[in-house]
Amino acid sequence: MVRLSFTPALALLLSLPLTVRAAPPATEPEKAAPPHQTWSFDGPLGQFDQKSLQRGFTVYSQVCSACHGMRSVTYNDLSGIGLSRQALTDLAHAKQVPGPPDSMGQPTMRPGLPDDHLRSPFPNEAAAAAMMGGVAPPDQSRLAAIHPHGADWLYAFLTGYHMPPPPGAPVVPGKFYNDWADGHLVGMPPPLMNGAVQFADGTPATVAQQARDVTTFLVWASDPHRTTRHRVGLYVFAYLSGLLVLAIAWKRKIWNRAKTRTTQDADD
Ligand code: HEC
Repeated sequence: MVRLSFTPALALLLSLPLTVRAAPPATEPEKAAPPHQTWSFDGPLGQFDQKSLQRGFTVYSQVCSACHGMRSVTYNDLSGIGLSRQALTDLAHAKQVPGPPDSMGQPTMRPGLPDDHLRSPFPNEAAAAAMMGGVAPPDQSRLAAIHPHGADWLYAFLTGYHMPPPPGAPVVPGKFYNDWADGHLVGMPPPLMNGAVQFADGTPATVAQQARDVTTFLVWASDPHRTTRHRVGLYVFAYLSGLLVLAIAWKRKIWNRAKTRTTQDADD
């Protein structure tokens, strides 16, 4: 029979996807989690340490912003780390940003305004890559949010450079050895140095301190309105708890009255 002779071929065909799939994928070595740090903003009730945020902004604006933009944050948002209206307006004003074209259609520049975003210092990604040996510095708006273990990883990464690299590590021109970079090599030179910035509050600017503060700032920057949201959440919670207490008191009162009446009815 014709039908029977097809059966072995059919069986072979059906088993094919199974055989092809059988080889297990080469298991990638599990990446170690960065050491856990204690952060002021940890947990649902965590609050950002404002002093640390301000020191972190100092590190961002004096070091990181030479290469990285932070487009999702405006100067106005910096009121969230405690900068006064005057201070953030002055900061914005000190920057020159592209303005509208003039009457001849030529590009112009204008002083920054509080509504402006923290721009990349490079005109575009290609220019940034060309200046930085092939890799553009990523925008820092969401850095803390996109990495698993965001804050812990950032801190480990910023303090994880080895100069010179450990013996036996691959040496690639234009790349730097870092314990926490992919393949241990990254195109960013170590950005932090002891004492490279000065903190207005007198805190000694060690590499570890700068890393901790700029990480705090980057976590804040990945969600600048989180503090306000938490505060509103707390108010709503307190209000609803108040309502609950009132509701219970009211229920008791009504039931007490009902009970008294029933007892009176029974006595009659
Ligand atoms: C001299 C320019 C320069 C400065 C200054 C600089 N960076 Fe970078 N950064 C780069 C470049 C270029 C890359 C992309 C490197 C790569 O992907 O190999 C990068 C990448 C990064 C990454 C991503 C790494 C990854 O693997 O995802 C982080 C995080 C980072 N920078 C943080 C910072 C912080 C924080 C500061 C300030 C303390 C800073 N950078 C200052 C040039 C710079």
